Amino acid sequence: MSDILRRGRLSSTPDEDMINFTSSMSADKWIFEADILVDMAHTVMLHEQGIIKKEDCSNILTGLLKIREEGIEKLDHSYEDIHISLESRLIDIVGEDTGGRMHSGRSRNDEVATCIRIRLRDELLSLMEELLELRKALLGRASENTETLMPGFTHLQHAQPTTFAHHLVAHSDAIGRDIERIVSAFSRVNKCPLGSAAFASTGFDLNRERTRTLLGFDDMLGNSMDAVSTRDFLIESASSMSNIMVNLSKMAEEIIIWSSSEFSFVELDDMYASTSSIMPQKKNPDSAELVRGKAGTVIGSLMALLSLCKALPLSYNRDLQEATPNMWRAVETTRSAVRITKGMIATMKVNTESMAEKSVLGFTTATEIADTMVRAGGIPFRTAHQIVGVLARGDGNPTLEEIDAVAKDVIGETLNGRGLTAEMVKEALDPVLNVSRRNITGGPAPTEMERAIKARMEELESTKAEISVLNKGIEDSLKVLYSVVEDYTGTKA
Ligand code: ARG
Repeated sequence: MSDILRRGRLSSTPDEDMINFTSSMSADKWIFEADILVDMAHTVMLHEQGIIKKEDCSNILTGLLKIREEGIEKLDHSYEDIHISLESRLIDIVGEDTGGRMHSGRSRNDEVATCIRIRLRDELLSLMEELLELRKALLGRASENTETLMPGFTHLQHAQPTTFAHHLVAHSDAIGRDIERIVSAFSRVNKCPLGSAAFASTGFDLNRERTRTLLGFDDMLGNSMDAVSTRDFLIESASSMSNIMVNLSKMAEEIIIWSSSEFSFVELDDMYASTSSIMPQKKNPDSAELVRGKAGTVIGSLMALLSLCKALPLSYNRDLQEATPNMWRAVETTRSAVRITKGMIATMKVNTESMAEKSVLGFTTATEIADTMVRAGGIPFRTAHQIVGVLARGDGNPTLEEIDAVAKDVIGETLNGRGLTAEMVKEALDPVLNVSRRNITGGPAPTEMERAIKARMEELESTKAEISVLNKGIEDSLKVLYSVVEDYTGTKA
């Protein structure tokens, strides 16, 4: 048996069914590049620590560069994972007396954990950037619509007038928190398990600090058993992604109902719409429906990760191999959903007239009428609530006389007698004034919205700077790794 893994202990080879069952090769395409980096850093460090000879180090690194160039397709896919097929390819290229030394002081357990963290941190960084773009699009559309009236809803019933800007900034704030969560998850993802070997570390005098810095990790995992066993960083990342998808699906749901004839608040750009194979007139918001649907995929991945990790004994168990495909599915789905949502928001047509028209339907100004009675007539809010409640049985456009007829029944006197005027009633019924009066922090008044949007745009810039620091930290470290590899191989890495 030429299988470099099984030839010692095991005497029979797995059949195709067994290979398919146990192999992680298809998901391992996600960590091919990362595995090469881990192999390079480990090899360099092994030589620096006097564990392997310089010549072996150079030959291994040259072999790794060749494998990277050949690509994953060239690897033997009958091995159970990328780590062992890559090592086997290396041995093919440089011979076992050299290639067989690379895995000294290492296990696939610390290797795979390191690879996953390297790929995931890159994905988190890209996701942060995509979320920033989405947030920017939401704020951009908001700043065009600070005066665009629309009905605000509770229970999906018309509630109070607000503006489209106010609604969009609400979503943008949710995305802002999503970004914070991903940044926070990144800080726990970017820690290095390498050097932990199978779980008990190793008797070789490894320099864990060196591989940590060469690979651009901010810190290392301090307990070798925890380092190979934990997948809490996957759970945490998938949880933050689930939260993103929940937020996106809420937006998607609104885009779907807003696109209906009943609402007709927005119209998606044709690029984001589909049509029917039988009803030629149809323009369907399929992209939004798929964002809503794909939220289920990501939440499912989180559930799978939680169920997989629950009650696993320390340390490494092969169950963990089932975790990563769920992570990659969540990553891929979330990133594309963020991009598509951004595109839909940035390009959709806003029917400002239809929104404004509907902003007063359902007596949305009722709260302002009640508030005006409190301010002008000095009555308790609860009493005003009762009076306006009775008026709401009418057409939603009460006159001062109608108000006073009800007031007499409820408090035994007119509100006009207590200072309420017809002018005040008219103003309270005006949706534009309703909105402009709500100018306290967080309210929809155009002045407050302009301030809010500007503050968020600034926040966006500082997050962008934060992300580029994280990116640069990794880039700089890898540059060092590549230049060391170049020194040993004479080849540009
Ligand atoms: N393919 C494995 C995984 O994803 C790599 C680690 C295998 N370790 C082991 N002890 N069998 O988890």
